[in-house]
Amino acid sequence: MSRQRYGLLGWPVKHSVSPQMQGAGFDAIGIEASYELIPVPPDDVPAKVRELVDAGFRGWNITVPHKGAMMRLVDQIDPAARHAESVNTVVNREGTLHGYSTDGYGLQEATREAFDIPLAGQSFVFWGTGGACRATSIHFALQGAAALTLVNRTRAKAEALAATLRAVAPACDIHVLEPHETDAIRHAFAAAAVIYQCTSVGLKPEDPAAIPVQLIPEDARLMDMIYHPTRLLAEAADHGCQTADGRAMLLYQGARSFSLWTGKEAPIDAMRQGLNQALDAGG
Ligand code: ATR
Repeated sequence: MSRQRYGLLGWPVKHSVSPQMQGAGFDAIGIEASYELIPVPPDDVPAKVRELVDAGFRGWNITVPHKGAMMRLVDQIDPAARHAESVNTVVNREGTLHGYSTDGYGLQEATREAFDIPLAGQSFVFWGTGGACRATSIHFALQGAAALTLVNRTRAKAEALAATLRAVAPACDIHVLEPHETDAIRHAFAAAAVIYQCTSVGLKPEDPAAIPVQLIPEDARLMDMIYHPTRLLAEAADHGCQTADGRAMLLYQGARSFSLWTGKEAPIDAMRQGLNQALDAGG
């Protein structure tokens, strides 16, 4: 059988560690495949997709800023991806393109692994309501989370997501807060099974803590979607919280893509090792 081709579309993509993670997965179960970094400027995405189909790619991942655009380029779309307006995985099934969003699954599995917490019936706080929150919170609502609180400095953005969440999952209680509403935030934090940090604050080493740590209960569980150590994680751990970075989310969203492409269970241990090696080498 000829070598299978997969890849990652983004702009830029050069810092991605997905090739090492997916490559380790393919190697572990003996699939001959490549996973290529494919930088594409926004205007060129439709042409690039046609090129990938013509070249026989079996599938690809999509990262910023193309997750929304890819939604309009697939033939069939998973409901969670449609509601999230975000496609991070495409499967090419004999020329028909299927779009999925695996970020929510990634966060779900990371939460199970770090804290042994299921989604159904639980309350969660999402701090920051950009693309990362949108993709994952829709999945949480669809999976039966009881309540979601969205905290964002730009209220209108959080309200827009809240409206979608209420339409998608009427039984899920949705609240919107701004960072200055500290009393309500303390209540939401106290009721939350997990607090998720989903802003871009913390990507740069000199960034401050994204969430004022004095608002967080000492026994809280906190996950930062950023997959490097952040000031928030350090401060929250000092405060007594159980903390986790975004590495496992990255692993499990990739594992779900792997399974969608290959129809096989993802070799998690091998993929984790590939991911850790790439990140520890400075990825
Ligand atoms: P996207 O993920 O949609 O591309 P983004 O611009 O990367 O969006 O921002 C992601 C999240 O980080 C947003 O919730 C954003 O808040 P706003 O909606 O108010 O812009 C948040 N964010 C980015 N910088 C921030 C900062 N300095 N302080 C607080 N929140 C910030």
